[in-house]
Amino acid sequence: MTRWYSEKKKEHYYKEAKKVGYRARSAFKLKQIQKKYNILKKGYTVIDLGAAPGGWSQVAFEIVGKQGRIIGIDLSPIKPIDGITFFQGDLTEDSTITKITQTIGDRKADVVLSDMSPNISGNYSVDHARSIYLCEQSLKIVNKLLKTNGNFICKVFVGKDIQGLIDKVNEKFQTVKRHSPVASRKSSSEIYIIAKKHQKTI
Ligand SMILES: C[S@@+](CC[C@H](N)C(=O)[O-])C[C@H]1O[C@@H](n2cnc3c(N)ncnc32)[C@H](O)[C@@H]1O
Repeated sequence: MTRWYSEKKKEHYYKEAKKVGYRARSAFKLKQIQKKYNILKKGYTVIDLGAAPGGWSQVAFEIVGKQGRIIGIDLSPIKPIDGITFFQGDLTEDSTITKITQTIGDRKADVVLSDMSPNISGNYSVDHARSIYLCEQSLKIVNKLLKTNGNFICKVFVGKDIQGLIDKVNEKFQTVKRHSPVASRKSSSEIYIIAKKHQKTI
């Protein structure tokens, strides 16, 4: 895709997001994933990792509705949205994982979402390694808090360690796909791992 075309596309999704009241363009990526893979359902409990400014949580809330529950966490503060629980925390710290565990209580998650991106250093192999590390932290949440048969979406920067990560996800889920949403198909090399039907290891 040419730079010109990708800039136009970015601009298009930015305008669309503003028009419909989503806080981020990335909301459309989740909508596209949902349309294709049917990850979220009415009444579901969802953990949204790297949730700021709140676009994915907005889309998830539209689908799960008031009987569902969304818990969104980010390094940055998130402006409140009625019906959604947001808190600030660093997913690389165990204390944040403990706080999520306490917040969710007995009702485990039907879906774990991670759209986390590391701060871009400009050195791609460093950024790739950091992105893999964030996915591994998300997998800790999956192991601890995702129900059997639950679903998981995780953004990752493509690079040498991606296959190792996909292999780990494969061990835990019935189906695992790599997805590049139209809304993010630009020069960047991020993809989403779409994992369905969590298999609890005994
Ligand atoms: C692309 S944005 C997420 C956009 C969001 N899905 C939305 O639709 O509004 C990536 C987010 O990951 C967060 N992030 C990166 N590292 C994190 C960490 N260690 N703990 C928590 N959040 C993190 C960043 O602060 C940033 O807000």
